[in-house]
Formats: sequence, C-alpha cells, structure tokens
Amino acid sequence: MQIFRDIAGLKTFLNTWRKEGKSIGFVPTMGALHNGHLSLIEASKSKCDLTVCSIFINPTQFNDSKDFEKYPRTVDNDLILLQKYNCDVVFCPTDDIMYPEKTQLQIHFGYLEHIMEGKHRPGHFSGVGLIVAKLFHVVQPDLAFFGQKDLQQFMILDRLTKDLLFDIELVCCPIIREEDGLAMSSRNQRLSKIERLEAVALFQALQLAKEHLLNGKNITETKKIIYNFFEEKKSIHLEYFEIVDRNSLQSIEESIQKNQQLALCIAAYIGEIRLIDNIIINY
Ligand code: PAJ
Repeated sequence: MQIFRDIAGLKTFLNTWRKEGKSIGFVPTMGALHNGHLSLIEASKSKCDLTVCSIFINPTQFNDSKDFEKYPRTVDNDLILLQKYNCDVVFCPTDDIMYPEKTQLQIHFGYLEHIMEGKHRPGHFSGVGLIVAKLFHVVQPDLAFFGQKDLQQFMILDRLTKDLLFDIELVCCPIIREEDGLAMSSRNQRLSKIERLEAVALFQALQLAKEHLLNGKNITETKKIIYNFFEEKKSIHLEYFEIVDRNSLQSIEESIQKNQQLALCIAAYIGEIRLIDNIIINY
C-alpha cells in the first residue's frame, strides 16, 4: 500500500497507472474507519484496477467547532485496516496542503442546501463540495464511491460533478449497520455505553415509519407517530424527520404517488452526538 501526504507524489504515481490504461476508483473519507467505509473500498476494488482512499478531516465542512475538535482521529488504525483490505493507495494530506491559503470560495446548491442537513448545518455542503472538488482534481478518478448513509451529500456531489463537468461516475453504496440496526458512523465511537444502546432509536423510528406508511397511514399521521416516539425518549433530541422523494429530495407533504420511491431521513442528538440515518422505500 502506497501512502502519500503530498499532491505531487500522488499525481505522479497515479499518472503512471493512468498511462497504462488502468481504471482508478476513489473513496474519500475523514478517517476513523469502520465497516461502512471498508464496504466502499471493497466496492471500488471490485470495479476498478486501482483503489485510492483519502483520509482528511475537512475543517470547512464543520459548522460546529466542537464537533471538529472532537472528531475521532485514528489514522494509525485506519492505515492498518486499509492495508488489511488491500487498498492500493492512501492520500492523507495536512490542512496546509488542501488549504494553502484561506479560502473565500463558497459553493451553493440551491434547494438541496436549504433542507435537512443543509438547513441544520449552515455552510456544511459548501465545505463538502469544496473539498471533494479539490480531491477530484488531484485524484482524477474514473469512479468515486460514496455511502447512501449520507444521501443528501450524495445528491449534492452528483450536482457538483455534473455542474463542474467532472468526468467521474459516482456510485452510491448501501448503508452498513451494526447488528441492532444502528448505521455505522465514525461518531458512534463518541457515544457512551448507555447512549450507544439508545442510539438504535433512529433506526427503530425509520422502521416504524416504514411500517405505518406501507400500512396506509398518511404523511401527517406517520410524522406524528415518530414525533410521539421521540417524545417518550427524553435522552434523545430529534432534530428532523422528513419524508422526501428519493430522487429530488423534495418534501412530500400531502399524497404519495403509486410506485414513488421515498427516502425517510432522520437526524437526532444523543447527548452531544449528532447522528443521521435514512431508509429508502418503494411505495
Ligand atoms: P465520512 O463521514 O468519513 O464518510 C466517508 C464515506 O463513507 C461517505 O461516502 C459516507 O456516506 C460513507 N459511509 C459512512 N458511514 C457509512 C455506512 N454506515 N455505510 C456505508 N457507507 C458509509 O462523508 C464524509 O466522510 C465527508 O463528507 C467527505 C465526503 C469525505 C468529504 O470530506
């Protein structure tokens, strides 16, 4: 496994492979790797000749400085895991390399930045767009792999790729969960034992909503059931629960179309830790 900390070395290495006609798969991460991330490495390895993973905790996408400071940093362990999964190349730059000067650039995504994650984390998607565009320029992959766990991020990056004419195919990979259903997340490491047990409520709420929707309850009734579900859980603060069209992420307030694909999206605080999750259902 080749590890690069600078852009020039990485580019030279990748150019050699590109000249030989090898395809390059890319998995951008912020480290603290878990099986969700590793499933993306596996997906890339199954489709591409060479897999590049980046580890960079991107400061511009954190709207909460405490969240940035406390974000788990486990690079040594990450490298062991990537080696075990036969990742070919790791790019772990410093802040100075990715942001040599204070950036002024802001990226706006219209409707997509004003709902759910965008609404509750102002500036977050601008930072995500900025770093992923930089990484795409450096790595120039053929395919890039992202998780459905961050569905709205995927839609944002799909927009970014199309609008900036990146010749890159984006692949959306399924959510990997713990045995009890909790979606794997780097932030789960920060949960106390009790909080970890409570955190499964996000997945349970999504399942509950799915069951009610498929049994004919309407949007308003279903949302009420979910709000009530969290009313009883004093240790969890529900930030949002939304039922949206899977393809446009437009909120569905009234009637659902037959065969419409819905995404049920949730964000909640367990103590200080903010977690998100979603499921997609065919109505
Ligand atoms: P990070 O949170 O480290 O996630 C990296 C990738 O792993 C994302 O595409 C995310 O959707 C995916 N992922 C996380 N948990 C997952 C799970 N349980 N199952 C499947 N995939 C999962 O997302 C980011 O980093 C950053 O915003 C980044 C895109 C790297 C830009 O800084």
